[in-house]
Amino acid sequence: QTYTDYFFDKSAFNTLDGGYIPLTVNQEAPAKPLAIPALHPVDHEDEQSVEYTVTARAGEVQMLPGKPTKTWGYDANVLGQTIVFKEGQHVTIHLKNDLPELTTFHWHGLNVPGPYVDGGCHAPVYPGETKDIEFDVVQPAATLWLHAHPCPETAVQVYKGLAAMVLVQDKQEEKLPFPRHYGVDDIPVILQDRHFNEDNQWDYQADYDPDGVQGPTAVINGTVNPYFDVTTRRLRLRLLDGANRREWRLHFSDDLEFAQIASDGGIMPSPVYFTHLMLSCAERAEVIVDFSKYEIGDQVVLYSDDVPLLTFRIKDKQDNGHDPLPEKLVDIPRLQPTPDLPVQEVVMSGMDEEVEMDWKKFDMQRIDRTQDLGVTQVWDVTNTNDMKGGMIHPFHIHGGQFQIISRDGHDPYPNEYGWKDTVGVNPGEHVRFAMKFDFAGVYMYHCHILEHEDGGMMAQIEVIDPSKPRPKYKLMDHHTL
Ligand code: C2O
Ligand code: CU
Ligand code: CU
Repeated sequence: QTYTDYFFDKSAFNTLDGGYIPLTVNQEAPAKPLAIPALHPVDHEDEQSVEYTVTARAGEVQMLPGKPTKTWGYDANVLGQTIVFKEGQHVTIHLKNDLPELTTFHWHGLNVPGPYVDGGCHAPVYPGETKDIEFDVVQPAATLWLHAHPCPETAVQVYKGLAAMVLVQDKQEEKLPFPRHYGVDDIPVILQDRHFNEDNQWDYQADYDPDGVQGPTAVINGTVNPYFDVTTRRLRLRLLDGANRREWRLHFSDDLEFAQIASDGGIMPSPVYFTHLMLSCAERAEVIVDFSKYEIGDQVVLYSDDVPLLTFRIKDKQDNGHDPLPEKLVDIPRLQPTPDLPVQEVVMSGMDEEVEMDWKKFDMQRIDRTQDLGVTQVWDVTNTNDMKGGMIHPFHIHGGQFQIISRDGHDPYPNEYGWKDTVGVNPGEHVRFAMKFDFAGVYMYHCHILEHEDGGMMAQIEVIDPSKPRPKYKLMDHHTL
């Protein structure tokens, strides 16, 4: 079966918002090869452990003709080098801040303890400082990401470029017939949009919109008007919506079919075939595109709505497997809710400056709810916006991955049967999922439209280990910033 639908409610697409800025093709910028982030060098690695130094720093990139654009990145001028972990490894990371202001290093989707290792707003690294974190990799192969998360400066820092891809590898994924030659047939695709001012700069303050900063120019892996030279029959694209606000409604020229094989937290139980796929902010999808039917010299274009984003130029058709994918990819045992626990009810409300989580603005020093370590609890997340003129809020929680149970009592979308850490919630809708935490700690949950998050559509949960005395966490407040 091939799905041809975006599934989300059309009447809430961001294109209908009064402040929506449509994408347009930047005519000044020549076509350029898609930048492929380098693989991050390790300080040290063996089977059991890996050590990295990750530095946040300023840089500049020639994105348009004329002046270079001033940007921030992780060991890169913009975005960052791709960091790879293997399941079972013990990881040490030296987090270095060479920026002129405080930042944090948040491991989005990584199952590590909050509120410090996880790098949310309680884990500041001050300018000139280096802080070390350590953790074990306890989750399956997945496409995750690293981004800045100082509150309430997440949006501006990500906009300047602080976002990088993080890959977890494992033995199970290794056996599946997927392309995995990084940069050749396994490609990160970080989707962002920016407004370039007449000096070719990104001026966040000038373009500020409390419902999310947007720009008319798609910038993919930091490249404007990118193309990619395809040398193999099949490509694996690791798509990440790294935009502050924009939803991407992806489809190829000729309505070429593609297969999604992984969602936020890892490989899905079965591939799902589409011609159209919508991603909301922070969501990831790994897809396999089969170009076998094209001839050398052909071009295939990836679009969002009707705007071309990325051109695939067929240069060669080396055989990297073109059999149909297996129907079954991995086993994901369904989480069974622990009996007799109440539902965790969450409400996202408002738009613009009025955004709230559970009818309150975020307070860094307030614990909004608790859950016991190791239990599986049902969460019910709703979006009180009106269908007409409301918007889809992408709900995200730190501290692990969840399994979607239902949307308004109906089945989840066909590609929502794997692990997720972010889910787009339509106006008026209730999304239910099952969530279990593996580590005690404090975790944030929020809308991943970054301006909504900074604007207060965020709260935090403490996960309590009932067998231990309750620790006293040092939580930041706005004054300690
Ligand atoms: Cu991707 Cu709290 O963040
Ligand atoms: Cu996160
Ligand atoms: Cu929102």
